[in-house]
Amino acid sequence: MKKTIYLLPGDGIGQEIMAEAVKVLDWMQGRGLVSFEMHEGLIGGTAYDQTGTPLPEPTVTAAKAADAVLLGAVGGTKWESLDYAVRPERGLLGIRKALDLYCNLRPAQVFPQLANASTLKAEVVSGIDIMVVRELSSGIYFGEPRGVETLPDGRQKGLNSLVYYTDEIQRVARRAFEIARKRQKRLCSVDKANVLECTELWRKTVTAMAPDYPDVALSHMYVDNAAMQLIRNPRQFDVILTTNMFGDILSDEASMLTGSIGMLPSASLGEQSALYEPIHGSAPDIAGQGVANPLAMILSVAMMFRYTLELPALADRIERAVHRVLDQGLRTADIWEEGMTRIGTVAMGDAVVAALHD
Ligand code: IPM
Ligand code: MG
Repeated sequence: MKKTIYLLPGDGIGQEIMAEAVKVLDWMQGRGLVSFEMHEGLIGGTAYDQTGTPLPEPTVTAAKAADAVLLGAVGGTKWESLDYAVRPERGLLGIRKALDLYCNLRPAQVFPQLANASTLKAEVVSGIDIMVVRELSSGIYFGEPRGVETLPDGRQKGLNSLVYYTDEIQRVARRAFEIARKRQKRLCSVDKANVLECTELWRKTVTAMAPDYPDVALSHMYVDNAAMQLIRNPRQFDVILTTNMFGDILSDEASMLTGSIGMLPSASLGEQSALYEPIHGSAPDIAGQGVANPLAMILSVAMMFRYTLELPALADRIERAVHRVLDQGLRTADIWEEGMTRIGTVAMGDAVVAALHD
């Protein structure tokens, strides 16, 4: 049956990079390698401007019906003064929740061609290949009660709740164990069990699952130490499993080991749905200039081929094409260095397409 891919370009550079990802999809389809329908919808600030909400109902319905969702980015200075309830970010959080995308995969891999791009020494970061598995649909991002209230004495009280149920921990941990099994078989679960009871439950729950995965070496680390170890000796990590907020923070840190957040894709998986998006944001400062790096978006398409469409050969092909354009010395501004050829968004997309051949 024909698969359905739902495109949500979103805001800022989201529009520009999505166009390049679509070129790759069109190429695959044009060669008869895969067959799918593509539809496009609204999310984020763009959706707010047109419909008054960052997550219109038709977007949720279409996303649920699709086999996979491809998302560009949301947010921008233009919408920063809006009420929290209608901020573009709410669209993103809302769709994660609506599709119950509880397992977020954020790979941090150093492209050998870009080993000098990191602010860390090449000998520290070369060869790193980390997969951050971030719980994405629960934890402090969604816990109740939450909000800001004004007390009788005039002070204000801000409150968010860190809540995890055992089944929520188990389902994401299961995915992490399984992923570790297909990699270096090392799983490090990151928590703050010395202070937060909720993450003590996290640690106990993950520990209790370990006997089911005797081939995986499970370790635990406090989040502050993990933040330090990621910079001190990142190669010690294979798969990192952690909560929603710790994963938000540590995945940004891990991405910077690679030198460019513009290179990193992500997958957000539920039982029924899957969403793929670059890790980077909407970059309003460079939006519309044609200079954004489309490679993270294109590599997100590769992840979609691997995890949802189950066509790993096509995922490999896209990743190989990206390596080829880097080997050719082609660079967008964010990854440019002396001696390389600086090109824009469209030229980068074209170069990847031209490199998709066998
Ligand atoms: C991310 C982003 C989001 C998050 C924001 C935009 C809501 O930082 O995907 O990491 O915090 O999850
Ligand atoms: Mg983040």
